[in-house]
Amino acid sequence: MTYFESCMQQIPELQKKEHVRVLAIESSCDETAAAVVEDGRTILSNAVFSQIDLHALYGGVVPEIASRAHVEKINQMVDQALKDAGMELRDADAIGVTYGPGLVGALLIGVSCAKALAFAAGKPLAPVNHIEGHICANFLTHPQLEPPFACLVVSGGHSHLFSVEDYGVFRIIGQTQDDAAGEAFDKAARVLNIPYPGGPLLDKLAEAGNPHALKLPRPKTEGRYDYSFSGLKTAFINAVHNARQKGEALNDADLAASFRWAVVSCLVDKAMLAAEELHLTKMALAGGVSANRLLRREMEAACEKRGIHLFMPALPLCGDNAAMIGSAAYYHLMRGDIADLTLNAKPALRL
Ligand code: KG4
Ligand code: ZN
Repeated sequence: MTYFESCMQQIPELQKKEHVRVLAIESSCDETAAAVVEDGRTILSNAVFSQIDLHALYGGVVPEIASRAHVEKINQMVDQALKDAGMELRDADAIGVTYGPGLVGALLIGVSCAKALAFAAGKPLAPVNHIEGHICANFLTHPQLEPPFACLVVSGGHSHLFSVEDYGVFRIIGQTQDDAAGEAFDKAARVLNIPYPGGPLLDKLAEAGNPHALKLPRPKTEGRYDYSFSGLKTAFINAVHNARQKGEALNDADLAASFRWAVVSCLVDKAMLAAEELHLTKMALAGGVSANRLLRREMEAACEKRGIHLFMPALPLCGDNAAMIGSAAYYHLMRGDIADLTLNAKPALRL
């Protein structure tokens, strides 16, 4: 019997098993992470090595440096995740891994590591889309959350409003036509000389500023529920440069607050338009930008006003981690959706 045939035979047993433990790996960008998750809902361990310090010097993620750091750290993270869960590799029922979207070299490290572990242990390998992982972070925080629900995914590379119709069944309601929200935050932060990744620090600085100090345009989009942040970002950068050239004193906290307000109000307004018109009753947030304080506050207020039940990932699960991949992998396993050893990294994978 081949490795894959043996894995397919294990699926019916896993579907009946009382508890299923997945060892998951995430390496799509600048976090090297491994975790153990039980039944898609309970985190037994969650080890993350953030490479931020390695990339900050260059003002952004350097793909070669990311790949190298993943190679150096991945086994350490896997060992840590197993140790923290009180397990050996053989105690894991399956391996889950992010195979896209992301940086190809970075993804390849996680995929190769996961394939080697799955083959060595003779356990099934579940391939996970990174965006699906972000959405599943909500299953770890809210045990009662079940599809269908809508999910606003806002990260460094994505700004999408999805309809999560069932486990593993997604439909795009709206998406950004250009930059992602996180990318816009990072670029706006750069003109304010905030080090990479600027989003979290801009968010903090904005808390002390006046969000109406600088008037910024609201973008027009083709689709009713689509987003666009590129024009907003350019208008912000131009306003800052013009003011500096004229020697006008601008307050950085006011600038940060104005930009944050412009981005967040776009995100919330479109999500609420979709909620009202499509009669959405459950809405979730996901992705790195879902840690944004104003976005969390404004979504809470907007959803409460309309009687929409809002779900947000716990703060440590908003950014990249492997626990969210372990949750998504569990639902792949339950559907019998597993990969063979030809699994490859797919940098432009779509959901
Ligand atoms: O989901 P994530 O960790 O990685 C991707 O899959 O892209 O998202 C990272 C992005 C970065 O652009 C970062 O600046 C942004 O999320 N981010 C924030 C905040 N925390 C992280 N943006 C605004 N406010 C925050 N608090
Ligand atoms: Zn991410």
